Amino acid sequence: MQGHYMLIFERNSELKIHLDRIRAESRQIGFVPTMGALHAGHISLINESKKRGLFTVCSIFVNPTQFNDKKDLENYPRTPQADIDMLRQSGCDALFMPTTEEVYPKEDVRIFNFGELETVLEGAHRPGHFNGVAKVVSILFDKVHPDVAFFGSKDYQQVMIVKALVKQLNLPIQIVPCPIIREPDGLAMSSRNMRLTKEEREAAKLIPLLLNESKIFFKAQKPISEIKAFIASKLAQKSIYKLEYFEICNSESLQILTDKKEVKQGIALIACFVGNIRLIDNLILD
Ligand code: PAJ
Repeated sequence: MQGHYMLIFERNSELKIHLDRIRAESRQIGFVPTMGALHAGHISLINESKKRGLFTVCSIFVNPTQFNDKKDLENYPRTPQADIDMLRQSGCDALFMPTTEEVYPKEDVRIFNFGELETVLEGAHRPGHFNGVAKVVSILFDKVHPDVAFFGSKDYQQVMIVKALVKQLNLPIQIVPCPIIREPDGLAMSSRNMRLTKEEREAAKLIPLLLNESKIFFKAQKPISEIKAFIASKLAQKSIYKLEYFEICNSESLQILTDKKEVKQGIALIACFVGNIRLIDNLILD
């Protein structure tokens, strides 16, 4: 396959030697951490980094500490060769694919505290998830030492956790949130989408439609309790869906809203099983 020249590192020591050289040339480093099974959403982050003229490093590591469900970890899609091809095509400069021993040479027992932020939404429904994200992101930041790191707003709460992490650890890293990339029918791109059956894939497109409807209702001043009841009733109509949460929050704090008043900007966030696959999505409501 044709494409850009991309370095691939499995070892931290080799990555470090190379990145030290890049820094010695006064080049800045842009970083895109991923768990692989790459799609256009991931590539949009690489593009954003390249656009800024940064030496762009992507990591692929399926992080065991952030999976609260062992089956989900086992079933997480792994497509290394296709990932490498896509990254080469995108112009990514270096790929870091460490082993678990490389990332966690001994057990990481750190416990982070993100206050209110980790008590809602994903934090409430996936115990330990953000603690695992914080562990791996802090380890990867320490290995790559990026100047800028790019994260997708598809994982809106994760972006806020990473910003809080960087602040707590006092790291000189700029966190850049990037827009959600969607399929033509509106479904947010996700590595987990490839595990949907044909029927589930068809059913999944209701999720972005419902977010759009919630935005129309929100703008029309419909009470939040009624918007929530509407979404829940729509998803209760078919047994293929199992709604985990639908909330309207303050987009700055992720505090759950019960009333539209006084919020500068609202955001709707949803987690819903379609068959056995758990999907998340969100939409700014204004
Ligand atoms: P992963 O799910 O592979 O996502 C890697 C990055 O791609 C995240 O910043 C995510 O928000 C972004 N992304 C995923 N789908 C997207 C879409 N449709 N549009 C835009 N961006 C999208 O998120 C993780 O991995 C992990 O938690 C990680 C941060 C790598 C730590 O293990």
